[in-house]
Amino acid sequence: MGRHMHGETVEDIRVQECKISNFSTEWLALREPVDAASRNVELTARLLEWREQLDTLAALDLASGTGANFRFLAPLLGGEQHWRLVDHDPALLAQGNSGSSNAFWQVERQCLNLVDWESLDFQSVQLVTASALIDLVSADWLGQLAQHCRVAQAVVFIVLSYDGTIVWEPALEGDERVRGWINRHQRTDKGFGPALGPRAAPEFGKMLERLDYQVELCPSPWRLEPEQITLQATLLAGWITAVREIAPDATDWLDQWAARRRDLIESGNSRLTVGHWDLLALRSREADLLP
Ligand SMILES: C[S@@+](CC[C@H](N)C(=O)[O-])C[C@H]1O[C@@H](n2cnc3c(N)ncnc32)[C@H](O)[C@@H]1O
Repeated sequence: MGRHMHGETVEDIRVQECKISNFSTEWLALREPVDAASRNVELTARLLEWREQLDTLAALDLASGTGANFRFLAPLLGGEQHWRLVDHDPALLAQGNSGSSNAFWQVERQCLNLVDWESLDFQSVQLVTASALIDLVSADWLGQLAQHCRVAQAVVFIVLSYDGTIVWEPALEGDERVRGWINRHQRTDKGFGPALGPRAAPEFGKMLERLDYQVELCPSPWRLEPEQITLQATLLAGWITAVREIAPDATDWLDQWAARRRDLIESGNSRLTVGHWDLLALRSREADLLP
């Protein structure tokens, strides 16, 4: 994976087929600290135990955005690391340039559409990772990813995949109806074929098990407090847009529900839990060697 330059950092952007995505830098920056606080601590610790067995680590971060997953993991993983961050949005990749350098980390950024498997190089990759990605992708795409990981004999660490749970406090009539539409929207095509949405992480786990991986799936929910007004309001706005896109009957009832939700959020009286999964898949032989 790229050049091996001991103790030196290389920043390199390779550009292939690139486009602007629907994910803004503002949104990714807003969710980054919440994502970091929500990750499953035990599963991250298991990954770090595995990492201790290696010298230099070669990691591939799929749909990296500005690099939040790299920023979280690299300091914990320690030692010399070679990272390739891949996304199809050049603006997001460019944003991540600042703050990623360190004497021990070699960072390469690749602008690429992840459906273009031929351009995605898994050779020598030891860790395949992604955050907030796989609920967007199809079963076919995940099946191909599982095969590529298996051929590379890579460990797989996929975090913060939405699990279908949305719990508002206080509850309102209409919450479940809206959640139902959001979860239907989750299964629409996001560029990878029909998305698995909340089923993605468990399905991917089963695919990996069939390829002789030992898989652990652990919860990593966002628990948003009343003072996290901006994030709650942004989620609400995004969900309303999503429901309107696909719900033919979303008219007055949705407006009324949204207005009441907005009032609760803006007055600092709203709590919100959004469920996620973190997944770690070790090759069975390696898992047996860990304490
Ligand atoms: C929810 S964001 C997560 C970004 C980052 N992993 C994080 O945790 O902040 C999803 C990312 O997937 C990227 N993406 C979506 N479709 C893609 C595709 N077909 N090829 C490459 N990247 C894609 C977007 O550009 C965006 O950066």
